[in-house]
Amino acid sequence: MNPVLDAFARPLRSLRISVTDRCNLRCEYCMPQEDYVWLERSELLRFEEIAELARIFAAIGVEKIRLTGGEPLLRRDLDRLVSMLAGISGIRDLALTTNGLRLGQSAALLRQAGLRRITVSLDTLHPERFTALTRRSGHDRVILGIRAARGAGYEAVKINAVIVRGFNDDELAPLIEFGRQHGAEVRFIEYMDVGGATRWSSRQVFSAAEMLQSLSLRYGAIESAGHHDPAAPAQEYRLPDGLRFGIISSTTQPFCGSCDRARVTADGMFFRCLYAHSGTDLKRMLRAGTATAEIAAVIRSLWTERRDRGAEQRLAIGTRAPLFRVEELRANPHREMHTRGG
Ligand code: GTP
Ligand code: 5AD
Ligand code: SF4
Repeated sequence: MNPVLDAFARPLRSLRISVTDRCNLRCEYCMPQEDYVWLERSELLRFEEIAELARIFAAIGVEKIRLTGGEPLLRRDLDRLVSMLAGISGIRDLALTTNGLRLGQSAALLRQAGLRRITVSLDTLHPERFTALTRRSGHDRVILGIRAARGAGYEAVKINAVIVRGFNDDELAPLIEFGRQHGAEVRFIEYMDVGGATRWSSRQVFSAAEMLQSLSLRYGAIESAGHHDPAAPAQEYRLPDGLRFGIISSTTQPFCGSCDRARVTADGMFFRCLYAHSGTDLKRMLRAGTATAEIAAVIRSLWTERRDRGAEQRLAIGTRAPLFRVEELRANPHREMHTRGG
């Protein structure tokens, strides 16, 4: 199918659906406050509504769906949603990003329901660092979750690690070796100044260039291996022994030029960019009984007008402070990374 193109000729191919804004961790780089202004439960899309939107997006060219949160495994009976999405014609990839705490219980069930790939966030191999970063316990459960995913026969299990200078920049090689042992590709992510990251500072960004330098000291020359998909955020690399890993350099080398991602929040707001200032309320249209074709036309038209390149614009600012202050996030929780779906 010919996908709809935005103002910079970027196709709409991929959809990130957040299924809840809640999370059972409080990671310093994403949810540094203890409490938040949460979305009203009655405002959350029901599974049938999510599937309806997914069918509309698929009909206009979306091929990849990723479920996110908050923490998506906090949404009850998620396997039911997965099986609904897995059956949509045109969807060739169905993935989930999780913090792994509840993955041990659900990895096999979700796989049976039709989930293809899983990405688990694991920023450190030290339990005490995990507790300091997330202000919760459960490091051992995340490791068990990764093992369970591995055993459940997913097409791929990946590990995401946000690298923060002075916190875990000494764990690049240990995380790569952990990934090797567990059959999971590791991707290192630069600390981003997104909504939610109210304690972000440029000083704490450990750049892709620094990551490569540090890893080449340990492993020798590292080769670039391109992108597994031209629109994917991660740049792929190969160690001299052939092992692959990825780096997501959103902060120092943004990849907006190839961004094909749309986002829908748990309460049905459509955003064209992680950094977008406003979104469009698709839930209101669904609940008002708007015809599917009309909702599709609205999405098409919004995408056609899309000129977002939020990360590139942030980079162009030069010296920057966090994107939002706590009060600004409280006034509009849709600005939060945990609401936008990471
Ligand atoms: P693959 O389909 O395996 O390539 O996954 P992915 O890398 O698209 O998804 P994942 O949820 O693992 O994303 C990893 C991280 O990349 C996110 O947590 C963000 O930090 C960052 N990221 C993902 N999408 C975007 C985006 O659209 N813009 C920016 N700036 N960063 C993004
Ligand atoms: N910088 C980079 N990545 C972030 N995430 C959340 N906040 C940030 C941030 N400030 C991403 C992490 C995590 C996923 C759920 O969201 O990759 O694994
Ligand atoms: Fe896409 Fe916006 Fe992220 Fe750039 S900042 S890659 S346009 S979501």
